[in-house]
Amino acid sequence: MNKKTVKDIDIKGKKVLVRCDFNVPYDENRKITDNRRIVAALPTIKYLIENDCKVILCSHLGRPKGEVKPEFSMNIVAAELSRLLGQEVKLAKDVVGPDAKALAENLKSREVMLLENVRFEPGEEKNDEELSKAFASLAEVYVNDAFGTAHRAHSSTTGVAKYLPAVSGFLIEKELNFLGSALENPERPFMAILGGRKVSDKIGVIESLLEKVDVLMIGGAMAYTFFKSMGYNVGNSVCELDKLDLAKEVMEKAKAKGVKFMLPVDTKVGKEFKPDTESKTVKFTEIPDGWEGFDIGEETIKMYSEEVKKAKTVIWNGPLGLFEFDQFAVGTNSIAKALADVDAVKIIGGGDSAAAVEKAGLAEKFTHISTGGGASLEFLEGKKLPGIEALQDK
Ligand code: 3PG
Repeated sequence: MNKKTVKDIDIKGKKVLVRCDFNVPYDENRKITDNRRIVAALPTIKYLIENDCKVILCSHLGRPKGEVKPEFSMNIVAAELSRLLGQEVKLAKDVVGPDAKALAENLKSREVMLLENVRFEPGEEKNDEELSKAFASLAEVYVNDAFGTAHRAHSSTTGVAKYLPAVSGFLIEKELNFLGSALENPERPFMAILGGRKVSDKIGVIESLLEKVDVLMIGGAMAYTFFKSMGYNVGNSVCELDKLDLAKEVMEKAKAKGVKFMLPVDTKVGKEFKPDTESKTVKFTEIPDGWEGFDIGEETIKMYSEEVKKAKTVIWNGPLGLFEFDQFAVGTNSIAKALADVDAVKIIGGGDSAAAVEKAGLAEKFTHISTGGGASLEFLEGKKLPGIEALQDK
C-alpha cells in the first residue's frame, strides 16, 4: 500500500481521531448479531493504546440521515468495545458538540472514547467543511481504518483528512494488501464466483474481473437474467429485462478474452417467496411458468465444487441463492464448504457472502474475509476509494 499507516508517523502520546466502520448488524432488542467489524478494528485501537495515545473513535451506525435517533445510538458499540478491550470506552452524548469536546479535552493517555453516530450530523454525508473542521479540532492526528466506508466521501472519512495529518490504520492496510495482491498478482488459475441479485449491481465488477480471471462462475438471481438473454423461460424468477443486451455482451466479452464463463445448469425453484414454500430442482433451461428460482441446484453445486478445486486464487462475492431461507441456502453453503477444503488464496469480498460463510461456521478456512460490502465491490471494480485517496502518501 502506498499510503502512510500509524507506523509511519510519530504517534506516541498523541490525541488521535480514528474513523472506524462500526456499522454492525443488530436485532430488534439492539443486540449485535455480528461483531466482526468491531473485532477487525481492535489491532489499530490496541496499537494506539500501547503507544500512550488518547483515542477518540467515531463511526456511523445505520442510516439516521442527519437526525438524532436513539435507535441508531452508538451505545451498543461502546458496550461491545469495552468488553472486547477490557477497558471502559466512554460514549459522548453528541458527535462534535459540547459533550464530545469536553470528553476529548479531558481524555487521558491510554483512554478510549467514542463519539455518537457521525450520521446524526446533517453535514456528515454532505462532506460539510465546518463539520470536517469540527472533527479535526478534537485531535492532533486522523486515522482512517473504516475500510467498509472508504467508498463514501463524507466529513469523517475524507473531509477531516484535509485538516490533520491523515494516515491509515491496520485494517485498511490489511484489506488493500489482500484484495490488491489478489487482483494484481494472483496465483493461477484465478477464479471468481459472483452471486447476487442483479447484473446491474455487479456489472462493474464482472467487467473488471473479466480482465483478470481465468474462470468466472455466476450464481444468485443474476443468473436468470443471463438465461433470459439466451431466450430461455425463467418463470417468475428475478430478471432484469432491460439488461438482457448487457448480459449478452458480458458473455461475448468473456469468450473473446478466453475466460471460462460458467452459468448454473440447474436451479431450485419455489412456488412463493417464503421459507417453507414448495420447491423442486429443475434444469436451468426448463424453469416452468409460475415458479421462481431461488438457488443453484445439485448439478451446479457439483460442477462449481469440482472447478474450484483447481483454483490457486479465488474471489467470492455475493451469495449463490436466497441464503436467508434455509432450504435455499444449500448452494451457498455447499460452495462455502467446497472452498473451505481448497488449497488456494481464498478471499470473500464482504457483504452477504461474508455473512453466509460466518453463518456456516467456516470463516477461519478463508484467507481473508473483507469487512467491506460496497467498498470491496468498488475496489474490485478498480475504482479509487475516496477514504483512502484522502490519506497521506508514503
Ligand atoms: C456498509 O455497511 O457497507 C458500510 O458501513 C457503509 O454503509 P452505507 O452504505 O450506509 O454508507
